[in-house]
Amino acid sequence: MAVHMADRIRDVGVTIFSEMSALAAKHGAVNLGQGFPDFPGPALVKDAAARAIAADHNQYAPTNGLPAFQQAAAAEWERRYGRAVDPAREVTVTSGATEALLVAVLAYVQPGDEVILLEPYYDSYPVQVRLAGGVPVFVRLGMPGFTLDVERIAAAVTPRTRAIMLNTPANPCGRVFTEQELRALAALACQRDLLVISDEVYDRLVFAPHRHLPIAMLPGMWDRTITIHSTGKTFSVTGWKIGYALAAPPLTDGFRRVHQFCTFTTATPLQAGIVEGLRAGADYERVFLAEYAARRDLLVDILRRAGFGVDAPEGTYFVMADYRGFRGMNDLAFCRWLTTEVGVAAIPPSAFFHDGHPCGMVRFCFAKKDETLRAAGERFAARLPRLG
Ligand SMILES: Cc1ncc(COP(=O)(O)O)c(C=O)c1O
Repeated sequence: MAVHMADRIRDVGVTIFSEMSALAAKHGAVNLGQGFPDFPGPALVKDAAARAIAADHNQYAPTNGLPAFQQAAAAEWERRYGRAVDPAREVTVTSGATEALLVAVLAYVQPGDEVILLEPYYDSYPVQVRLAGGVPVFVRLGMPGFTLDVERIAAAVTPRTRAIMLNTPANPCGRVFTEQELRALAALACQRDLLVISDEVYDRLVFAPHRHLPIAMLPGMWDRTITIHSTGKTFSVTGWKIGYALAAPPLTDGFRRVHQFCTFTTATPLQAGIVEGLRAGADYERVFLAEYAARRDLLVDILRRAGFGVDAPEGTYFVMADYRGFRGMNDLAFCRWLTTEVGVAAIPPSAFFHDGHPCGMVRFCFAKKDETLRAAGERFAARLPRLG
């Protein structure tokens, strides 16, 4: 049979994460590339999921999620941000944030609509916009410092602009956008009647003194924002792929029309596991964040000692490191070299710019055991100066 791939996917390649993880495995490199923990998730959620399986909670969950999950997620939002959320009408459980992002775009982007993406972006966004027939419009964050340059965003808005995809705390740059930045963006969204799809999967990973503010909490934004979460980051179970979306009932209505025919529902016992994690609330959050702050400090120290230029990230589990003191290579070549010759894998952020813009940095992940981070440090100490 002649295979005719749909035009809309013809340019889609393999993600940089798959490429770098495969290279790391082939060369036995310490993998600080792809963003997933190499330590176990909490017994609390794993035991609850195991109990749910043993108790035969193994059939389809309701399409919008287990009511206990919706209630726990709504209660968490209220605890953290002080706004009551209607669990049945405003919370929808999805198979990871990735599903929620695609569903939101398919529900609200018409063919030909423009969607503003802030660079560097999480790499699924442009493909998801194109799958809906939309047109990604790329606006770079301000440099240095990856600032939210709302004047530049405003200049990119046209009568065809339908939505902005926001990510805070932001992968890969580690920014947590400030209230001032978000207020300016919210004012633009209200003025130009734009939808905001706000990817907040790292909302628990914010280091003092920075604070996460969901843009949906700003005046005029609840009715125009779909907020997306991933419990994989918060409970160190990225392979479970349990996410959820929060939005006002009219926006949730469109979202659910797509979700029911996309995955219909999400793994029942794994939802039951996450319910226990969500219920642990502030107690879990305190320990989780303290452990991550220690990992962040350790990796920042290791990278600085190795000779990288590093600013500690405000949020997420990623560090952007300036490597230009080492070699005159672009970031992809540098990451390949680092993986094969030094034995440490990182991600080249040019994959997060539509035109492959090299920002002179590479991204390392610190969702790793101390011993993994230290092993990377030993390789840098042994092999970087010699080759640098
Ligand atoms: C910014 C961002 N959004 C979404 C996702 C995907 O989340 P999930 O694994 O829940 O689909 C990730 C995963 O790395 C991410 O970094």
